[in-house]
Amino acid sequence: MGGFIILFVFCVLFLQSSVLEVTHARFVQPTKCGDSGPDIHYPYQIKDQHQHCESPSGFELLCRDNLTTIHFPSYGDLEVKSITYDTRNIHLLDPKKCVHRVFLNLNLSLTPFHYFYALKNYTYLNCSTTLPPPFLEIPCLSAASYHVYTVDPALPVPGSCAGLKTVAIPFAYSPYLSDSKLGLRLTWDMREPQDRGTTNGARGSHTSRNTVIGFSMFVFVMAMLLLISTKIRVAARNNHQKEGQLLHS
Ligand SMILES: *[C@@H]1O[C@H](CO)[C@@H](O)[C@H](O)[C@H]1NC(C)=O
Ligand SMILES: *[C@@H]1O[C@H](CO)[C@@H](O)[C@H](O)[C@H]1NC(C)=O
Ligand SMILES: *[C@@H]1O[C@H](CO)[C@@H](O)[C@H](O)[C@H]1NC(C)=O
Ligand SMILES: *[C@@H]1O[C@H](CO)[C@@H](O)[C@H](O)[C@H]1NC(C)=O
Repeated sequence: MGGFIILFVFCVLFLQSSVLEVTHARFVQPTKCGDSGPDIHYPYQIKDQHQHCESPSGFELLCRDNLTTIHFPSYGDLEVKSITYDTRNIHLLDPKKCVHRVFLNLNLSLTPFHYFYALKNYTYLNCSTTLPPPFLEIPCLSAASYHVYTVDPALPVPGSCAGLKTVAIPFAYSPYLSDSKLGLRLTWDMREPQDRGTTNGARGSHTSRNTVIGFSMFVFVMAMLLLISTKIRVAARNNHQKEGQLLHS
C-alpha cells in the first residue's frame, strides 16, 4: 500500500513537471536573437523552435545573423527593433530604409497587426516631372526619370502624374519623418483560441502557473492525508492482531 502511494506521488510529480515545462516554454521562457535583440515570448515565437507548442499564426519571428525579423507576404522581411508586451507595440525597421515603400505595399488585412498610430488616407503619385513646392518627393521611391509623392487624395491628379494607390498610413512623406526609425510601429490583436480569454500573455502565464502550483499543492496534501490515514489503519490493524494474539495465548 505504501509503495503504491509513493508510486502515485511520483507519477503526479512527473506529470506536474511536464505540464510546467510546456507552460514554461509557451508562456514564460524568453528567448532572444543575438545579445541585443528583444525578448521573444508568447504570442511571438522563433520559427523552428519549440515545435511542440503552437504559437498563433502571424507571430512567427525569424532569427538571421543575430537579427530578429518578421516576414510579411505583402512586403518581405522587416527587422524587429523592440516589442513592448504590455502596450502591445512592435517597433519595426525596414532593412531597405524606405518606410514609404513599406507603407505603400504592406497589407495587414490578413495579419493580426494594424498600425499603432492614427491613420489618414494618402495617395501615392508617380510623376514624370517634379512637382513644385510644397510637394516633396520621396527620394527612396524616386529615380531620375520619375518622382513619387504622397498627397491628399482630395487633390486633383496633375497631368504628368499617375495615381499609384490610395492607402491609410500614419504620415505623409516629410524629410523629418522619413527616417526609418520612425513610424513602423504596429500593434496586434489577440483573438485566437489560444488566448483563453485574456488579452495579455504575461497575465495568462501567471494564471496557468498559479493553477499548476495550486493543483500540485492540493495533490500533495491529498497524498499526505491518504498516507497518514493508511498508516493509522495499518497500525490499528496491527494492534488488533496483537490484541488477538495476546487473547489467544
Ligand atoms: C552573433 O552573436 C554572437 C555572440 O555575440 C557572435 O559570436 C556572432 O559572431 C554573431 N553572428 C553574426 C552573424 O553577427
Ligand atoms: C489586402 O489584402 C486583402 C486580402 O488579400 C485584399 O482583399 C485587399 O484588397 C488588399 N488591400 C490592398 C490595399 O491592397
Ligand atoms: C480611407 O478611405 C477608405 C475608402 O474611401 C475609407 O473606407 C477609410 O475609412 C479611409 N480611412 C481613413 C483612415 O480615413
Ligand atoms: C513610376 O513609374 C516609372 C515609369 O513609369 C516606373 O518605372 C516606376 O517603377 C514607377 N514607380 C513606382 C513606385 O511604382
